[in-house]
Amino acid sequence: MKTIIEPFRIKSVEPIRMTTREQREAILREAGFNLFLVHSDDVIIDLLTDSGTGAMSSEQWAGIMRGDESYAGSPSFYRFQRRLQEVTGFEHILPTHQGRASERILFELVGGPGKVIPNNAHFDTTRANVEHSGAAAVNLPIPEAADPARPHPFKGNLDVAALERLIAEAGRERIPLVMVTVTNNSGGGQPVSLENLRAVRAVCDRHRLPLFLDACRFAENAWFIKQREPGQSGRPVRDIVREMFGLADGATISAKKDGLVNIGGLLLLRDAELLYRASNLLILTEGFITYGGLAGRDLEAMAQGFEEVLHEDYLAYRLRSVEYVGEGLTRAGIPIVQPPGGHAIYIDAAALCPQIPRAQFPGQAVVCGLYRIGGVRAVEIGSAMFGERPPPGLELVRLAMPRRVYTQSHMDYVVEVCAALAAARDRLRGLRMVHEPPVLRHFTARFEEL
Ligand code: F0G
Repeated sequence: MKTIIEPFRIKSVEPIRMTTREQREAILREAGFNLFLVHSDDVIIDLLTDSGTGAMSSEQWAGIMRGDESYAGSPSFYRFQRRLQEVTGFEHILPTHQGRASERILFELVGGPGKVIPNNAHFDTTRANVEHSGAAAVNLPIPEAADPARPHPFKGNLDVAALERLIAEAGRERIPLVMVTVTNNSGGGQPVSLENLRAVRAVCDRHRLPLFLDACRFAENAWFIKQREPGQSGRPVRDIVREMFGLADGATISAKKDGLVNIGGLLLLRDAELLYRASNLLILTEGFITYGGLAGRDLEAMAQGFEEVLHEDYLAYRLRSVEYVGEGLTRAGIPIVQPPGGHAIYIDAAALCPQIPRAQFPGQAVVCGLYRIGGVRAVEIGSAMFGERPPPGLELVRLAMPRRVYTQSHMDYVVEVCAALAAARDRLRGLRMVHEPPVLRHFTARFEEL
């Protein structure tokens, strides 16, 4: 059969509130043309993020009931710990309330003024936490990542030669760790190959540097490896995942993505001294080491989610359904980052509306257009999010797919809305930022249409 179906049935539904174009016009103005400031019940299809927006399974909801809320030593923690040990091979698993809490703890411990953190591409919170510590965040994507139209099977790879140069220039003592983000979110949801991870590991070994993964979408990355990397097609995804984590000395994870939960995060560490310091900081700012700012029921949901995400029929459906949207947009003549990413499709807004200069936020103009036309909420990943230093200079609009939430007809609707926007691209107007917050400005910035 050629159709890859959703490998689940729907047991509980949430109504979608329909809006008219006139209503959306008023809502957009009220929100200062920033979709982060729109109420979600005013959104028809919400593709703002794939983070924490997934649907849990009946087994996860069963875990919610089983959750043990003891302050210390809850059986829910030990179930969670065992599952994550199995999946990652790491012995030490610290729970946190979400990915950025893990980042904050890690970079408070290893960052600081004068330090340099290389990454294939820092996510916005990762960059912000690195910089908050006083360190510098350096992106080292492969050159192919700069060209949205150019397909590459592992466009998320880190440029190993550039890493060598950075180490030579900065000096290894200024680099507390090397980070690789799998999949690379800021650069198009693109995967990193095992070959690249092994090569980065070899550089780290030569310079005695620790290698950390930002592993939010580790399972999607592993599925791409299985599909695309020579010699990997016969391997269970679980083995590929174990090899990926086995190459690393630590990892930060937002469980809100491939953990298939609405809240939760992890910090994985091997070094005993770093673990000791991280545990103390966790107790200080998140919670005791057996709950880390979460409820016992959240740990149960994670224990189950990290199992389900490795089911290969789920991953085949997941990656194919994102690709399906990518194909629809491409057929409608919309330029996207090629190939389609694991968790999202990225529209190349600079190519779609070349009449809008960068300083007038072409990506944000596309985001506003999608909402106006069809109530679809997307997010700008470009000059509004990153200011003068987007990675790698792209002006993108991300359509992020919540996991197990929308059906194929929802996606057909999204493709129609995008096609209508493309047909009216000449009428899109640029924006001026009229309120600019000091950090992570895209969340609360306000705009005016020009
Ligand atoms: N790293 C990556 C690669 C991410 O995509 C995210 C979150 C984080 C770290 C931070 O995790 O949100 O749990 O604190 N990305 C979401 C997104 C928000 O929409 O891409 P968090």
